Amino acid sequence: MATPISTIFLLKFLLYSALLSSKRGLAFQGRKTALSTPSTLHNVHITSLMPSSVCSPSPKGDDKRASLEVIHKHGPCSKLSQDKGRSPSRTQMLDQDESRVNSIRSRLAKNPADGGKLKGSKVTLPSKSGSTIGTGNYVVTVGLGTPKRDLTFIFDTGSDLTWTQCEPCARYCYHQQEPIFNPSKSTSYTNISCSSPTCDELKSGTGNSPSCSASTCVYGIQYGDQSYSVGFFAQDKLALTSTDVFNNFLFGCGQNNRGLFVGVAGLIGLGRNALSLVSQTAQKYGKLFSYCLPSTSSSTGYLTFGSGGGTSKAVKFTPSLVNSQGPSFYFLNLIAISVGGRKLSTSASVFSTAGTIIDSGTVISRLPPTAYSDLRASFQQQMSKYPKAAPASILDTCYDFSQYDTVDVPKINLYFSDGAEMDLDPSGIFYILNISQVCLAFAGNSDATDIAILGNVQQKTFDVVYDVAGGRIGFAPGGCE
Ligand SMILES: *[C@@H]1O[C@H](CO)[C@@H](O)[C@H](O)[C@H]1NC(C)=O
Ligand SMILES: *[C@@H]1O[C@H](CO)[C@@H](O)[C@H](O)[C@H]1NC(C)=O
Repeated sequence: MATPISTIFLLKFLLYSALLSSKRGLAFQGRKTALSTPSTLHNVHITSLMPSSVCSPSPKGDDKRASLEVIHKHGPCSKLSQDKGRSPSRTQMLDQDESRVNSIRSRLAKNPADGGKLKGSKVTLPSKSGSTIGTGNYVVTVGLGTPKRDLTFIFDTGSDLTWTQCEPCARYCYHQQEPIFNPSKSTSYTNISCSSPTCDELKSGTGNSPSCSASTCVYGIQYGDQSYSVGFFAQDKLALTSTDVFNNFLFGCGQNNRGLFVGVAGLIGLGRNALSLVSQTAQKYGKLFSYCLPSTSSSTGYLTFGSGGGTSKAVKFTPSLVNSQGPSFYFLNLIAISVGGRKLSTSASVFSTAGTIIDSGTVISRLPPTAYSDLRASFQQQMSKYPKAAPASILDTCYDFSQYDTVDVPKINLYFSDGAEMDLDPSGIFYILNISQVCLAFAGNSDATDIAILGNVQQKTFDVVYDVAGGRIGFAPGGCE
């Protein structure tokens, strides 16, 4: 007899063939130089735009907090990048990024208030077009089970449930670098039963009602057409570090997993809702975490939990309150942008109409149409001495730097309510396809009411602090290299 879970398997999710190219991603080594540079410009060495093929990790501080090393999935510091032929090209990554943004939009459009009714209903994965999470391109390694198995995960502030591929992969597991987690070999693993109230939490944690198979609670989470995970809802021991171990950590033990996660064991959900790692570790860390995304794929950053005696003075905070429209997401108030020291004339209502979230998994920041056209006009005007290059996917403002040793790039500052500000690192301004196609790493939404997103390119090198309990998010420059 078919279990309810099999209904999910009927979904014809697609071909999973977007991971074709072995074209290596280029890295941008933003290096600020030249004391004579006016403060409204970055003077950037072109050689620093060139990709590095060797890993040079950021130096580690003597941090007492639980700190994990953050690695770019496709860079030389990642063992996953040895999966030749599986890394998407830089252009493909942009296309995937648009899919992720579409999925965020569709989740925000859903009414979250229809929860409640769970038992007997099925996990239904909408077959709406257009999303993958393939762009969640930063990974960390943590331990799961007893004995502990080290597994590498994408981390994602835009979703809550943590899941890993699990033996016996009843339906499908994609290729991953490390051996797939085997619950029957972990003495601390237990299933969550359908009758447990914990099972009901999946509704808010995944957006889908749980299902039931042989009295085991079944989760299903989709990130869009090409990416989903379905399996048993379970708990086991999670070792973030050797000293920070959480018994009974709730996660998905995936029996049917598809998508652009290839190489990694699964995903760690750092959203603000119930089942996220942030919520499950709240007693120990007080819902405080921070990360730094490195400027290039050949450097490393960190993901740290807890305050360990206070956050640095350099961190400037802006409010981030719960928004019932998207309870997993971290909203903030972007209010203005400047380019080369000149504030854009974009009115504050343009930003407040759309609203803004910060997301670790979206690559390119999205702005309301008016804000983006103002930004682009000012940037193009200040970059007018450089030859333009063809647009690339969602990026329409690209330059050919092949004839230059250094370029002067106008600074871009983002301003948030209550005085928080980001003076973007050069690595946070450009997305580089190659030296003759270097693009402004922002894109405009087509609809003025679509949410704006602070993407991960712009967050590079900042210490980004999520003080979830305090209802605020902060930024400090120079968090990593
Ligand atoms: C978890 O539940 C599934 C489905 O009922 C079952 O096949 C599996 O053996 C269970 N695992 C454990 C450790 O109980
Ligand atoms: C840069 O990329 C573009 C588009 O992918 C390509 O046409 C061009 O040949 C590349 N240039 C170099 C120098 O690799």
